[in-house]
Amino acid sequence: LELQLQVHDLIRAHISKKPTSREILSDNPLLRSSSSNRSLAIKDLDEQQRSLVHNSSANEKILLRKSWILRCQQQEWQESPEGQKMLEYRRSLPAYKERDALLKAISENQVVIVTGETGCGKTTQLPQYILESEVEGTRGALCSIICTQPRRISAMTVSERVAAERGEPLGESVGYKVRLEGTKGRDNRLLFCTTGILLRRLISDRTLRGISHVIVDEIHERGKYEDFLLIVLKELLPRRPELRVILMSATLNAELFSSYFVGAPTIHIRGFTHPVKVHFLEDILEMTGYRLTPQNQIDDYGEENMRRKRKKGMSLGKRKSWIASSVEDTLKAADFNEYSPKTRVSLSLWNPDSIGLNLVEHVLCHIVRKERPGAVLIFMTGWGDIKALKDQLHSNPLLGDPSKALLLACHSLMPIDEQKLIFDRPKDGVRKIILATNIAETSITIDDVVFVVDCGKANESLYDALNNLPCLLPNWISKAAAGQRRGRAGRVQPGECYHLYPRCVYDSLSEFQLPQILRTPLESLCLHIKSLQLGSISEFLSKAPQPPEPLSVQNAVEYLKTVGALDEDENLTVLGRYVSMLPVEPKLGKMLILGAIFNCLDPIMTVVASLSLRDPFVTSFDRRREADTAKAQFAADDCSDHLAFLRAYEGWRDAERQLSGYDYCCRNFLSQQTIRGIDFLRRHFFRSLKNIGLVDHNMESCSLWSHDTHLIRAIICAGSFPSLCSVMFMPQKAKKSVMLRTMEDGHVLLGLNSVNFPASEIPYPWLVFNEKVKITAVVLRDSTAVSDSVLLLYGGRISRGEEDGHLKMLDGYLDFFMEPNLADTYVFLKEELDELIQKK
Ligand code: CDP
Ligand code: MG
Repeated sequence: LELQLQVHDLIRAHISKKPTSREILSDNPLLRSSSSNRSLAIKDLDEQQRSLVHNSSANEKILLRKSWILRCQQQEWQESPEGQKMLEYRRSLPAYKERDALLKAISENQVVIVTGETGCGKTTQLPQYILESEVEGTRGALCSIICTQPRRISAMTVSERVAAERGEPLGESVGYKVRLEGTKGRDNRLLFCTTGILLRRLISDRTLRGISHVIVDEIHERGKYEDFLLIVLKELLPRRPELRVILMSATLNAELFSSYFVGAPTIHIRGFTHPVKVHFLEDILEMTGYRLTPQNQIDDYGEENMRRKRKKGMSLGKRKSWIASSVEDTLKAADFNEYSPKTRVSLSLWNPDSIGLNLVEHVLCHIVRKERPGAVLIFMTGWGDIKALKDQLHSNPLLGDPSKALLLACHSLMPIDEQKLIFDRPKDGVRKIILATNIAETSITIDDVVFVVDCGKANESLYDALNNLPCLLPNWISKAAAGQRRGRAGRVQPGECYHLYPRCVYDSLSEFQLPQILRTPLESLCLHIKSLQLGSISEFLSKAPQPPEPLSVQNAVEYLKTVGALDEDENLTVLGRYVSMLPVEPKLGKMLILGAIFNCLDPIMTVVASLSLRDPFVTSFDRRREADTAKAQFAADDCSDHLAFLRAYEGWRDAERQLSGYDYCCRNFLSQQTIRGIDFLRRHFFRSLKNIGLVDHNMESCSLWSHDTHLIRAIICAGSFPSLCSVMFMPQKAKKSVMLRTMEDGHVLLGLNSVNFPASEIPYPWLVFNEKVKITAVVLRDSTAVSDSVLLLYGGRISRGEEDGHLKMLDGYLDFFMEPNLADTYVFLKEELDELIQKK
């Protein structure tokens, strides 16, 4: 109140004295420190502004004043030499030519779709155009623009770039917000945030009060949260007629969206991409003289992999002939340019990774030796590939020589500082080579790329609704994505693209990628629908641009019921409501709440933080074995990945008090960055739990909470249920062997880096796990062994209303696994429990 009155005073003085713009500016600390002393050529208030001031409320006057300051600031910046240079650059971008058309369409329509090649200026320019025009206009004071990004890294780098283009520090008129991080400016006019942040805001502010423009970027990626947001926005538009929605896409699948938002106009920004020469595998083989012999392919498949197979006595022969025949078939099909059903099958099996690394190395040598200068961008499937290729290239005499080649990686898990290196220009005579995942396809633009090498696949999370199983597999990219990759070569001059697959494979690719909503589990999304009170889950999701299968929706709803977040009629339970307010997926939210209730929140926050972030043990390839040993030591005899994470973190916390956290991490094969992330998340969880009233501020000290291993194990069990796997020993076999089974998938395997691998030492008959994913087999990640009694008492629901609820559920599990001993224990415990319940 005090501050508001002070500002109010200033405005009154401003109106009565009609001060010069210089006086207005001198109130702004940022500009006070500016070096320029000349007076600004900004006119005093015009008639229209004066009448606006007279007719505004006190609050609006404050906003108006801020808006004017913003305008003066911009004017000063644009007149400075750096500002002019920047303005020139901005005006050279293709988007600038469409500026007026874009602004006109936005003022006349509630929804506008904007398409244009990557790098044409959609993300950095369009939000600025809107901001500038609003600030120039009389209602500028009230504008608030939100631009959503599917990835954290793009929200952060783009906001930094836009602030720099406006000559301001980040956090003034331009800010960003991603989970756990963000700028705190109250005067933000333009906010870049992840889609998740906007969805969370919708919980407390269902009509997006105060937001004038929502820009949804990169909609061509069809992320599930973006699709979700589109449904919400479509419903919201009639209630907020002044709200403007702008959808931006890199590829030209705009028809789907313009028919979804009936009548929304599409504006295409014509790019200035230079022509790109395309080479497919057959051309590359001819051009470089590379021979695809079966021996070559075996080498390419990875010496390490083969060595491992030989050691285990596995046959290589079958694999060898399979690769040979499928490549041969593929090339034959390329020759004849036709497909038989047989060729189609072999195409879908044919894996470019098996031709892989040697071919990439060969193509790179060809480029470095024979081609003109220019950076090379290589699209690989994931971190594993990138690392393997980088290692291989380092030992190449030409590519491993730092005076000739600069090898860089670009991956979303890399630290930001390292990521920034990819934008720098190398010294003369040094060839910049960037190994990237599909992140460099559209969200990051590297200007000096002239050559693109495309392996044709990307790691894609798929969801198998029938088996209720997420899979992470390298999958063929779409034609649209291949086109994007190719386009990266023609940013600054004519470029060249090497597709490491035959033309016939390209011809058989699908036009666009399957939307994520059709290929991932939907639990968090369903819970979100309920907490936003958007009605029936299946009805809401049926309004998506491409609705998910009813079976996936049903699976997600069933899961939420099992966890206890929804009741039988699909209403949000109290637990569900609390869980939806926590910034983690439903089962981890439930684990946190249980931790608070059962008095072991401190250790449980660590467990949940590491599950929701990632394994803190280093994933580096060369030190894998040592890392696994270190992890096993932390687990001691407890057979729990969760407890290993917990002890690793607690050890670091002690070491950090003596300022030796870094040494501790090096000694124990831990990533200090991840551990710090866990530490940070823990505090974030505590704040969230405090906000919902489950803890209060004087409970943050870790010594207040129990660290009893049995209790922690029980809570992990309660939170993980129904992710349950039975451990059965097979006594009839000579060697002690063990079989792991889950109810839905039958036989499953443990992840290689789990402390429980290979499961032969587990003293309990059950494992609860955090995640399962189908790679080639179904693999369980992060598991903890639990006993019968823990499972009986803590597995299942914790709802008191239906005393029998969880017992019934367990009945099903027990019948399935047919464990006679357990059944006895169960009957005994059930009687005890019944008696207890009756007494109560
Ligand atoms: O969104 P779109 O792909 O259309 O392009 P953008 O991200 O707005 O980028 C426009 C131009 O700004 C690019 O061509 C880059 O040269 C430049 N840019 C940059 O220099 N640094 C960034 N962090 C982002 C963009
Ligand atoms: Mg963009």
